[in-house]
Amino acid sequence: MIHKTAGETPYFILHTVHTSYVFRVMPTGQLEHLYYGKRLNLEREDTLSSLQEQFAFAPGSTVLYDQEHGSYTLDEVDLEMSSLGKGDLREPTVDLVHADGGRSSDFTYERAELSQEKPTFETLPGSYSESGKVEHLCVFLRDQQYDLLLELHYYVYADCDCICRSARLINESQSPVQLQRLLSLQLELPGTGWAVTSFHGAWIREMQKSTLTLPAGKFVLESRSGSSSNRCNPFFMVHDPAATEVSGDCFGFNLIYSGNHYSAVEVGCYGKTRIVTGLHPESSQFLLSPGECFEAPEAVMTYAPDGFTGQSLNMQHFVREHIVRGSWKRRARPVLLNSWEACYFNISENGMVSLAKTAKELGIELFVMDDGWFGERANDTSSLGDWTPNTKKLPGGIAGICKKINDLGLDFGLWVEPEMVNVNSKLYAAHPDWAMTIPGKPHSEGRNQRLLDLANPQVQDYLIEQMSSVFSAAPIRYVKWDYNRVFSDVYSPSLPADRQSETAHRYILGLYRIMDVLTKRFSEILFEGCASGGNRFDLGILCYFPQIWGSDDTDAIARASIQEGYSYGYPLNTVGAHVSASPNHQTLRATPLETRFNVASFGALGYESDLRDLSPEAKKQVKEQIARYKEWRDVLQQGDFYRIQSGNLHKWCCVSADRKKAVGMLLLELVHPNEPFHSFQARGLDPNAHYHFYSLEQKVSIKRFGSLVNMFAPIHVKQDSIVEGILDRRMKMPGETEDCIATGESLMRAGVKLKQAFSSTGYSEKIRFFSDFSSRLYFMEQEDET
Ligand code: DGJ
Repeated sequence: MIHKTAGETPYFILHTVHTSYVFRVMPTGQLEHLYYGKRLNLEREDTLSSLQEQFAFAPGSTVLYDQEHGSYTLDEVDLEMSSLGKGDLREPTVDLVHADGGRSSDFTYERAELSQEKPTFETLPGSYSESGKVEHLCVFLRDQQYDLLLELHYYVYADCDCICRSARLINESQSPVQLQRLLSLQLELPGTGWAVTSFHGAWIREMQKSTLTLPAGKFVLESRSGSSSNRCNPFFMVHDPAATEVSGDCFGFNLIYSGNHYSAVEVGCYGKTRIVTGLHPESSQFLLSPGECFEAPEAVMTYAPDGFTGQSLNMQHFVREHIVRGSWKRRARPVLLNSWEACYFNISENGMVSLAKTAKELGIELFVMDDGWFGERANDTSSLGDWTPNTKKLPGGIAGICKKINDLGLDFGLWVEPEMVNVNSKLYAAHPDWAMTIPGKPHSEGRNQRLLDLANPQVQDYLIEQMSSVFSAAPIRYVKWDYNRVFSDVYSPSLPADRQSETAHRYILGLYRIMDVLTKRFSEILFEGCASGGNRFDLGILCYFPQIWGSDDTDAIARASIQEGYSYGYPLNTVGAHVSASPNHQTLRATPLETRFNVASFGALGYESDLRDLSPEAKKQVKEQIARYKEWRDVLQQGDFYRIQSGNLHKWCCVSADRKKAVGMLLLELVHPNEPFHSFQARGLDPNAHYHFYSLEQKVSIKRFGSLVNMFAPIHVKQDSIVEGILDRRMKMPGETEDCIATGESLMRAGVKLKQAFSSTGYSEKIRFFSDFSSRLYFMEQEDET
């Protein structure tokens, strides 16, 4: 709900179900931010002035905004947006160089419009509502001196306690203006000492959580890699330093954008904390001619009084409902097999078909042919850009292999990396000027490839047609859209020298145009974004592609913290997660198949290894895993995710929307001997309902006991001997199971005290075999109350 009070200097009140956001027009015309947090009863207008700060004088070393209003300086005021030059020395939202060379701007209130309509920005994707109605407030601000119009747009998603804000700058003057920055969101929080939690990393090490308490100064979160990046995801939280998963004020922020971004949390000299977020200023240096307009991406914010989990649930709900769209929004995501870690570049029709045959036997639904199927591609040095199948590898082309896979009863999917070109390609030979390189200067290559100049509309048109012909070559049901390098030598040969600073943003706008056309043209294809894993995991991509490959790291233990990182800002079904070989190809760590599945099942599940090489026993296990996942995928893909514990011991829980079913997971990284009891506390259940809590039957290989097996074996068993192999095939040690009934309240508060974990003192089915990297799933089903 949005409310605007009458009067010359109105107040604006934005309510979601549990939050309120309030600002007003000051007598000087700027917008003063008054409150964001837990919902307040503000029905009586005479209560609003109590939210205002009462300034009586401007302190030394400040400037007065004007003589007429002698009581304050803008440097002290909580502002809804700031510009440079009029006394506010903190991070601005807007920075402009005017035609006269001046760099001061002053945007004051002109009018406001309330509507239920969300205007579509011309260049950028954004949030939406299925009903077509979005509560929308647009505040129009004008720089009277230079005749520039600034629109601040607020979109209220009451259902998930999220508010989006974006901005548009329109040059209504007769002179050009040079934009230096136009950020999307500025939010002032009272006081200092807030903690910032952000998510950093690198290739195969995405989304590592990092927390810092900020007593003074400025903390910057940014990407300058060209994409939203694995270095620093655009999602972050600002919270009470004592906040936990279940308590404490917590604000969450994200940006609907896939390129260079910039956020700062700044503690000003008057004991207030300012947060800004938006497009990176280095990528927003645009020349705006008279009549031209610049659109800033939407930023998303949320507030929860109950810690990280409350914040995460809001963001997960927002992304599921108001970002992800299209025919796959609520559809069950298929269990897939991806050929990459099974075959790498070694693609052949026979190889793919025989792999797919095994996949089908085990219950896989979709077969994905990854890199290596086109041009002369034998490794990563050639052929990107040449999107015709290599007929030595695929004699029947895409149509031929797709038919063979379909005949097995599997859907078929394909890998592409459209935005790139190898110098060693026909495309580069024909159009060297289509690559993003500085003409005549040496180029720094990444993975032996260059970016195509997506700022060039001709390149965009070409890619749309190229990809359309690939995607229509056969009934393709899935496309993995990869992107495997960072920007360097940023330069668009299609732009003049004085507009080169626009290249990085124009690239992303070009990408959005291509994705928009293709996802509409091929609306039944399930697209999965990928950028060497999570180098472009953001809300911009999720507006087009409903899922993104979370990391090239498929090691279950590394994945646990990566997937936990994503879960703070994104729902589980947006994160592609695969079961791969052991030892793992990225870490060489050996982990049980059970754990690899358990971790990957908290995501859009796939497999990525040569399933033909599995032992009959492992194949049986995979078959059971897939069958179980299909039974529970509604809960796992659409449910609410709770982190109960992180660290050496991970406890997760995913609960269906109706709270009738839940899946929990307990995962141990390293054993600490003779530890206290483990218990499992659920979250998100109906406190009054009774649940059946159970785990699956366990069978433990005797090999996992090593020489300890001689404590109970009738004959001496030598490790790695033939006898050990025979015994292991014939008999398994029975493992523990859990089975009890408890109320939701009890499961959440007391938890279930699990069977004691093995600790050097004998073994029976009353003891949980729980060595390094072990894990268990726990299922919870509501009982019918009769
Ligand atoms: C990087 C991706 O993240 C991998 O999964 C794989 O698709 C390779 N590219 C293929 O080159």
